[in-house]
This record gives sequence, C-alpha cells and structure tokens, in this order.
Amino acid sequence: MAVDMKGKDVISIHDLSVEEVEQILKTAEMIKLMAKSGQPYRPLAGKTLGMIFQKPSTRTRVSFEVAAWQLGGYALYLSASDLQLKRGETIADTARVLSRYVDGIMIRTFDHNEVVELAAHATVPVINGLTDLLHPCQILADLFTIREKKGDLSRLRLAYIGDGNNVTHSLYFGAAKVGMDMIAITPEGYEPDAEILKLAREDAAATGASLELSHDPADVAGADVVYTDVWASMGQEDEHEERVRRMQPYQVNADLMARAKPDAIFMHCLPAHRGEEVTDEVADSRQSVIFDQAENRLHVQKAILALVM
Ligand code: CP
Ligand code: NVA
Repeated sequence: MAVDMKGKDVISIHDLSVEEVEQILKTAEMIKLMAKSGQPYRPLAGKTLGMIFQKPSTRTRVSFEVAAWQLGGYALYLSASDLQLKRGETIADTARVLSRYVDGIMIRTFDHNEVVELAAHATVPVINGLTDLLHPCQILADLFTIREKKGDLSRLRLAYIGDGNNVTHSLYFGAAKVGMDMIAITPEGYEPDAEILKLAREDAAATGASLELSHDPADVAGADVVYTDVWASMGQEDEHEERVRRMQPYQVNADLMARAKPDAIFMHCLPAHRGEEVTDEVADSRQSVIFDQAENRLHVQKAILALVM
C-alpha cells in the first residue's frame, strides 16, 4: 500500500521507514520508465523548489534543477553567498521567509544542524542535498542503481573503502533499511562516526542487515558492490596531502577489485579524484557503473520531489 509522504522532510535515511524507502525506489522506477518512453509526468506543475548551496555541486544541482523542470515545476538556484544568510540573517528566518514563496527547499551545507534547524522552521518539505554528516539523496539513488544492476538488495554485500564520511554514513543507513550487508573499510582514525553506526545497527535489527567496520582492504572479499569516495571531502582541502598518504593502501585499483566477486560492480558518488581513491583502469572498466549512478540521481530525486511536494 502507498505511504503518504507529502510534506515529509528528507534529511536522513534513518528518519525514513522501510516502506518509505521502498516507495521512493518504486516511484523512481516508474518515473524512469515513463521518461525513457517519452511519457510526460508533471506532478510539480506550478510548484517551485528553492535550492540553497553553501558548497559547490555538479550532479546535485543539475539533477534537481532538471528534475523539477521535467516534472512541470521550477527550481531556483540560491547560492548562500548571495543570500542575506551570508550577512547574518538566521536560518530560522530564512526558512520562514522561503516557505512563503516556495513549495520545497533543498539545501547543501557544511553543518548538518543547519538543515535540521531549517526544517524545524520551514512549513514546506526540506531535502538534504549533502552535509558534512550525510548525503541521503545520493544513497537513495545508489540503492536504486544497485537494485537495477544486481537485483534483490537483501542478498547483496557492499564494501565501502576509503574515508569514513557523509557518504559512508548514509550508506550504513541505506543498507540497514533495505537489509543489505555492508562493510566500511577505512584507515585507523578515519572511521565513520560511531554514533551513526550504532543507530544504523538499530535500524538493521529490523531487516537483518549486517553492518561491519574494518581496517583491512582484504575485507572487500565477497563484495557484490565496491564503493569509494574522495579521500578529502569538501571543506577538508587542507588535510588533502596527509589523507592521500594515509589512504594509499585503500585505493580501488585492479588488484583490489580482483579481491571482490568476479561480477562485482564499482561505484563512486563522484566527483572522483582519479589516481587517488580510484584508478582510471577501474573507473573506466566494464565493472564501473558510475555514470548510470550519476544519471539515477535525476530519476530518484524526481521520485522524492513528486512524493514530498
Ligand atoms: N555526488 C554529488 O553529490 O555530486 P555533486 O557534488 O556534483 O553534486
Ligand atoms: N564526501 C564528498 C561527497 C561529494 C559528493 C564530499 O562531501 O565532498
């Protein structure tokens, strides 16, 4: 049965029910099929999405903007540096004002609490387009891609290797909701947040997903999906050199891929720092699904917009 998600914020996959995650994936499947067969679908007619960006973006910005347009609505790009936010207007007042104009707000920022605060004061749904802590829309699209490529998510094992970051955190939450086993493999000192892993394990109790943490790259053994992300995220540019030095053994190259299942797929949320966390050989290999993954941001975000707005 369909779950009513109208008005719902999408801030963390942890806050979504198993049914809501499934509904997003199913809706995205329908929307992608319709788009591919040229059938119009305009649930956002007359509606506007405001998109606040404190950090750069290629995929998130373009896919949300195109998604809103193709669904019959309109998307406003709001660079935080051009808003009064930059001059000290509070998040709460920004939320109250924007709610009088737009029908939904997407925000990409540093501090996760800003998104929570925005949502607390907005009267329209708020969508998290990445914070230092989480990247839920990315991972909802990734779950869709994995299912498209490999089928039943509850029979799969995903190995995330590299820096324990926002993408790792949302992957834990996503895996927990769909019952997919996951291991995060990071250097010591670069582990994902322990509190996030604890919460994700609580969610996983309902679906049977096993969520592990390791420091040994050999633990990619048996993975159906090998996933990595940049070693220095946005805002960590100063640590780049040190991170590259520490994470070298965690590079996804042909030798590492050979340890996973022979039919494993390679994923990366992009942008990639080719030659660092992944080699060209892997990123451009037949196992790589990185551009399908990027495309699916469009279809899955359309589903999110259609459901919550
Ligand atoms: N994967 C992702 O969110 O890409 P952008 O930073 O380009 O939006
Ligand atoms: N972890 C990366 C993801 C980019 C989409 C970052 O936060 O920069």
